[in-house]
Amino acid sequence: MRSFSIVVAADRAMGIGKNRGLPWRLRKDMAFFAKITSKVVQGAQDATTIGELTHQRRVNACIMGRKTWESIPKKFRPLTDRFNVIVSRDPHYLDDKPEKGNPLVALATSFEAALDLVESLQSPSSSSPSTSSIQVARTFLIGGAQLYNEGVRSKDCTHIFLTRIDATVDCDTFFPEISPSEYQLLPSTESHEFLENYLQESVEGGVIEEGSYQYEYTVYNRI
Ligand SMILES: NC(=O)c1ccc[n+]([C@@H]2O[C@H](COP(=O)([O-])OP(=O)(O)OC[C@H]3O[C@@H](n4cnc5c(N)ncnc54)[C@H](OP(=O)(O)O)[C@@H]3O)[C@@H](O)[C@H]2O)c1
Repeated sequence: MRSFSIVVAADRAMGIGKNRGLPWRLRKDMAFFAKITSKVVQGAQDATTIGELTHQRRVNACIMGRKTWESIPKKFRPLTDRFNVIVSRDPHYLDDKPEKGNPLVALATSFEAALDLVESLQSPSSSSPSTSSIQVARTFLIGGAQLYNEGVRSKDCTHIFLTRIDATVDCDTFFPEISPSEYQLLPSTESHEFLENYLQESVEGGVIEEGSYQYEYTVYNRI
């Protein structure tokens, strides 16, 4: 299964970034991001017992552009309990980095190569089990704009989990247009039900207020 989902937070104008970082600090949304990208749900996507048999660690994958990787504070990277795939055209990017050799960190020189890598770690056949210590459950594309541009157009993108921030914030980086002929925005109640089912736990629904911000977790399904 090559499918993946996009996770993003954007303002009314689909702004997502400023000065190489996030334009806002939303504690609950960060917790939601950590939950949706980290939680390995039993039975999710090609669950097999092969991982158990080969003592592989079953985690979700987060694919991200090199700039998004560098925007994560050093103390928080790699993202814990997730397989971090950094996309850079520089095949030697990791060579002098402390993360080189970390089994939870990998480099891919294109988005397609990142998907290939993750796919190869998803469901190894019992006849040729992967030699990796990692088995991938769900796959998420977590930014930034350059990677979203490629990802949103991919037929393998099944969902967009968009935290819609009801504000206009000064941004210099934007999420691409979500074509209504390719994605359907679920109504508020359905988005909420979808997320609770997807995560198999309760998720805060409706409008969330945090500081001066109001936002809501929404779901787009590929048509
Ligand atoms: N609001 C949100 O949910 C959210 C989420 C994520 C990020 N962001 C924000 O988005 C901004 C960063 O986004 P960005 O668009 O500037 O950068 P980005 O997409 O994170 O990374 C761009 C880099 O990825 C590599 N890359 C891109 N396309 C590639 C391809 N086809 N093949 C190989 N490598 C490729 C290149 O790395 P090399 O230059 O090394 O070759 C490129 O410079 C930051 O402000 C960040 O905070 C916001």
